Amino acid sequence: MRQRGWQRPGKKVSCAQLLGEVRPPIDTWELAVMIGHHLMNQTPHIAIVGATGAVGIEMIKTLEQRRFPVGQLTLLASARSVGKALQFKGTEVTVKELTKGAFAGIDLALFSAGGSISKEFAPLAVQAGCVVVDNSSAFRMDAAVPLVVPEVNAADVQWHRGIIANPNCTTAITLMALYPLHAAFGCQRIFASSYQAVSGTGAKAIAELERQVDEIVHGRPVTREVYPHQIAFNVLPQVDSFLPTGYTKEEMKMENEGRKIMHHPGFRASVTCVRVPVYRAHSIAVSAEFDKPITAASARAVLEQAPGLKVVDNPAQAQYPLPLYQTGQYNCAVGRIRQDCALDNGLCFWVSGDQLLKGAALNAVQIAEELLKL
Ligand SMILES: NC(=O)c1ccc[n+]([C@@H]2O[C@H](COP(=O)([O-])OP(=O)(O)OC[C@H]3O[C@@H](n4cnc5c(N)ncnc54)[C@H](OP(=O)(O)O)[C@@H]3O)[C@@H](O)[C@H]2O)c1
Repeated sequence: MRQRGWQRPGKKVSCAQLLGEVRPPIDTWELAVMIGHHLMNQTPHIAIVGATGAVGIEMIKTLEQRRFPVGQLTLLASARSVGKALQFKGTEVTVKELTKGAFAGIDLALFSAGGSISKEFAPLAVQAGCVVVDNSSAFRMDAAVPLVVPEVNAADVQWHRGIIANPNCTTAITLMALYPLHAAFGCQRIFASSYQAVSGTGAKAIAELERQVDEIVHGRPVTREVYPHQIAFNVLPQVDSFLPTGYTKEEMKMENEGRKIMHHPGFRASVTCVRVPVYRAHSIAVSAEFDKPITAASARAVLEQAPGLKVVDNPAQAQYPLPLYQTGQYNCAVGRIRQDCALDNGLCFWVSGDQLLKGAALNAVQIAEELLKL
């Protein structure tokens, strides 16, 4: 069942009535669309939009590694990449150009080509009867679009209307440790600093770090294309553009997206996001304040049971999560767990995760796995 040809009757039905949950009101036309999208082909034809990018490449690998039942794979990118061949399950798949008509016959599209591409093409994909999992920030805060980290709010996939958003990578990795603690102790607010890898900015930024290291090692002048300052042997206290408040857009995603994903409208987050000369995997130092008393031992007991999370916390042996070793890992890792000395009911921790995986490709494929269960 597809939405094409459906007339829009306009009668309002509360989603709460339909799903037993508090959701934005929908009309019967949208309900028909939802039902159509819920009937996911069990061996879907999948398109990856932005297949040649840092995230797109990981999406291809993750679909293969998790044995996702891909019926057919279509790889889409800009005209620059047309004809390029990428490997999937031992065969070469040729990249095609993203065009308005590219979604005919596609069941599920994983988008990772930037916000403007998502805004333009995701609605066209939905119109063509495709379900979209979008990695950009284009739809994350849209009340009609679920924003999902499956370990936290997998059930939100059920009320999608064609588009499901993947969260900001730093937010997703932080919530892998914070959400289980919130569920047990009630998180009021956090103060955090991020240590974000250059691959978070995409393939060009990885090349920039490599090139600058080479230029410095060989005594040549340092050239800049992606970041406003040299990133090699430096740290930049700016990720994304600044808002009038002095925070950056990236910093406010933690509070805004965290509230939506955790269904916790009172959650507050004061964050400083920092770009570091690490190729891959983001880390976040968090101080969190809770409603209930919390100790390092009670927190560790909760975190050891948390899905998708590994506790690496033996300071005496210099064991704590390191981005270098998180690279390529599906699980995030948490360590440096200690009672916060400056907050009541406070806990400090350090969480690290591969942002190309849990912050993007893996999370998107996990959402696709949830769609198959509907
Ligand atoms: N990197 C991360 O850790 C991360 C994490 C979470 C979310 N995201 C989001 O994922 C998206 C992609 O990020 P990325 O890091 O993979 O970027 P990237 O390495 O720069 O890749 C961008 C991809 O988009 C394609 N593209 C660019 N312009 C296009 C156009 N006009 N038409 C069709 N395709 C076009 C590129 O194709 P060509 O190769 O042909 O140019 C490439 O495949 C962004 O929205 C980003 O915010 C990234």
